[in-house]
Amino acid sequence: MARDNDHMPQSHEYDVLIIGSGAAGLTVALNLPPHLRVAVISKADITSGATLWAQGGIAAVLDSDDSIEAHINDTLSAGGGLCHEDAVRYTVENAAESIRWLIDNGVQFTRDENEKLHLTREGGHSHRRIIHAADATGNAVSTTLSQQAASRANIDLLSNRVAVDLITNRKLALPGNRCVGAYILNLETSHVELFRARFTVIATGGASKAYRYTTNPDGASGDGIAMAWRAGCRVSNMEFNQFHPTCLYHPHAKSFLISEAVRGEGGVLKLPDGSRFMDRFDSRGELAPRDIVARAIDHEMKRLGADHLYLDISHKPADFIREHFPTIYEKCLGFGIDITREPIPVVPAAHYTCGGIITDERARTDINQLYAVGEAAFTGLHGANRMASNSLLECLVYGRAAAADIARREDDIPAPPRAPDWDESQVRDSDEDVVISHNWDELRHFMWDYVGIVRTTKRLQRAKHRVDLLAREISEFYSNYRVTNDLLELRNLVTVSDLIICSALQRKESRGLHFTLDYPGLQNDPEDTVLVPTTYRIASP
Ligand code: FAD
Ligand code: SIN
Repeated sequence: MARDNDHMPQSHEYDVLIIGSGAAGLTVALNLPPHLRVAVISKADITSGATLWAQGGIAAVLDSDDSIEAHINDTLSAGGGLCHEDAVRYTVENAAESIRWLIDNGVQFTRDENEKLHLTREGGHSHRRIIHAADATGNAVSTTLSQQAASRANIDLLSNRVAVDLITNRKLALPGNRCVGAYILNLETSHVELFRARFTVIATGGASKAYRYTTNPDGASGDGIAMAWRAGCRVSNMEFNQFHPTCLYHPHAKSFLISEAVRGEGGVLKLPDGSRFMDRFDSRGELAPRDIVARAIDHEMKRLGADHLYLDISHKPADFIREHFPTIYEKCLGFGIDITREPIPVVPAAHYTCGGIITDERARTDINQLYAVGEAAFTGLHGANRMASNSLLECLVYGRAAAADIARREDDIPAPPRAPDWDESQVRDSDEDVVISHNWDELRHFMWDYVGIVRTTKRLQRAKHRVDLLAREISEFYSNYRVTNDLLELRNLVTVSDLIICSALQRKESRGLHFTLDYPGLQNDPEDTVLVPTTYRIASP
């Protein structure tokens, strides 16, 4: 690409810089006082995150037969003894109000014939409590919230902007522990711009792209987690990667999820010979929590040498299937699979990052004026395994909490200090992009093979060795060449993969989503895995 060598560095100043425009980032933006100037940046389109693809729905106690205590207990039980009970209670108690906020903002949820909100069911939930917009809940949430944000005069929605790194007092050699903003690569000009802000919010989603097979869209490369780690934030429980049991298996289908709600509405898992098997693994059968179902599928696939199993809902009336799962029906039909007549080929795939940047009840991180919300954050809600449909809920509850905290503090926080422009004088354009694409593939392959659903210490050590080599190579690349989105994502993926492997090596037990053949039992008094950047050196760039 031709480059403008005389370009003037661009700099911007806002009250609040929100990195990420999924459910979490937009919830913060829309709940901030209207006199604050807000930038919401997204590395692709404004609706490009995982939020757009959410299918099943959002968990909340909305039925008189259900109770707050039941939702809390189900979450604690799915979380395998590691949920923080205060975070669970806080989230569950604030769920109904968050749903009301969505409805007030215009999100249209599915209603039954009496115009009551229809509630579906998913794994781990003892009641019907998942509010949804057919099987495209994320689409309804993402498009409605982004339209709302676009109509607000105080919010600038900036797409095709990639956050490179956070700017802190420490990096500027100033006293104090404050976040000052971030350097942002503008993909339209290929230059890095300076964004200073009184408050910065990381809402960058998860890191499931670290794995070869994933339900996540491109871009789920753990950027926010890696940036916060480099800036000095602690991260926790990165070993708990959730593998969704049922991703569509088809040579031309990239990352298409078959919602757990299909099992919630009666879908059953089958072996290639048509027999059911989940009852052999858990008394809750197909509606056991995800870690159990994904491991059972993985076990049966390995036992039979099968490259996929089946999810079958064809025994239900065709109209019912088409009405409840219009997106899944159409998508599968496009691949020649009529789900009203035949079973759906499925495999597990990396789906959700339970760990992340440690935050408190107000979404504050270890660095002043830096918040983290949504899948990038670790609130303590999910423990060792996230229960279905608790994730969008967490985005809403903690997004609102972060906005309320910023609103409370904004009078006390002065303008950010000056910061230098990004220095491009020592780097040149890369002539070896093949190194990046090769390393991307290598990383995602060995993460899948060595750090996947079933782990061993030896495999984790192998992965650690590989990731250290990649880290050195990428570090050199990063120092010498101009940054691109691919390079930044790879750099961040190497960091989060390192964090995942180091966390997995620390856990000497099998709990929730972390299962290792070397420590198949549970330890007493389980603890979170907490990695501290100042004391814990990983090799990452
Ligand atoms: P995202 O929605 O992923 O948004 C991340 C944002 O950050 C994007 O705008 C992205 O462009 C931006 N970004 C990332 N890095 C950078 C960077 N370096 N610079 C600038 N911008 C950046 N959860 C549920 O509760 N219910 C469900 O039914 C459900 N179904 C799901 C189905 C699928 C297929 C998937 C993949 C997930 C599902 N989940 C579900 C999980 C849930 O969708 C996500 O956890 C949630 O949407 C995350 O929201 P978020 O706002 O944290 O991040
Ligand atoms: C699904 O619809 O199965 C996804 C739900 C979730 O990830 O919470």
